[in-house]
Amino acid sequence: MSARRPLVGGNWKMHLTSAEARDWAARFGRQAGGQTGRLAGRQAEVVLFPSFPLLPVLARALTGSPVALGGQDLHPAASGAHTGDVSGPQLADAGCSWVLCGHSERRQDHGETDAEVAAKVAAAGRHGLVPLVCLGETAGERRGGETFAVLTRQLRAALEPRPERFALAYEPVWAIGTGDTATPETAQEAHAVLRRTLSEILGAAVAARCRILYGGSANPDNAAALIAQPDLDGFLVGGASLDPDRFLAIIRACGP
Ligand code: PGA
Repeated sequence: MSARRPLVGGNWKMHLTSAEARDWAARFGRQAGGQTGRLAGRQAEVVLFPSFPLLPVLARALTGSPVALGGQDLHPAASGAHTGDVSGPQLADAGCSWVLCGHSERRQDHGETDAEVAAKVAAAGRHGLVPLVCLGETAGERRGGETFAVLTRQLRAALEPRPERFALAYEPVWAIGTGDTATPETAQEAHAVLRRTLSEILGAAVAARCRILYGGSANPDNAAALIAQPDLDGFLVGGASLDPDRFLAIIRACGP
């Protein structure tokens, strides 16, 4: 495990109602040993990415807790005629300090391009949000031996705006929601490529500081072996984050 403070994100995608979110926060708070208890200090930094309508609910339910909030996406513009989109200032206003950029479900379902992801990374920085940039190859790209080319292309594009603060999530598309987790060795290999590329683009110091999370069917059973890899600094958790006990088990696997 590295000296970088682990970071664990819960990506709720399009799940849960406000009553369920309140229940989640209450159960999580109890299990975590009080809202400001065990998660503070040297334990993993935790951020939740709920769908937009749940942000005010969670901002209230998590008041005084060390759990941060993030948006699942943002529009590059600060405001305007963009039906169905949400802006950086709106996310910040709703209590977010983070935002996901370039999740594979946005790239696939909404045709998000590398250039659009870069524009979102730039917008996040302008509005005081830390982008968590998601990168990953599809099953076909892996079979075709293109994994590292895809990762470096996505990374170079996303860092074009030269963000001051950011974190990365390596999320192989074939592992997301499939139960087919990358092995620790496969994940480490990809993380090492990302850190090396990061070093080429922004220098060794930035690369050494940057947290690179793993995402793709992370769960309480595989978290310990994955986090033991030298270039793996935490998790972006989808399915398992919907259960506060399983999410907390993953956080604890990253703890001191
Ligand atoms: P999963 O999702 O943990 O359900 O595979 C991860 C993600 O999409 O961020």
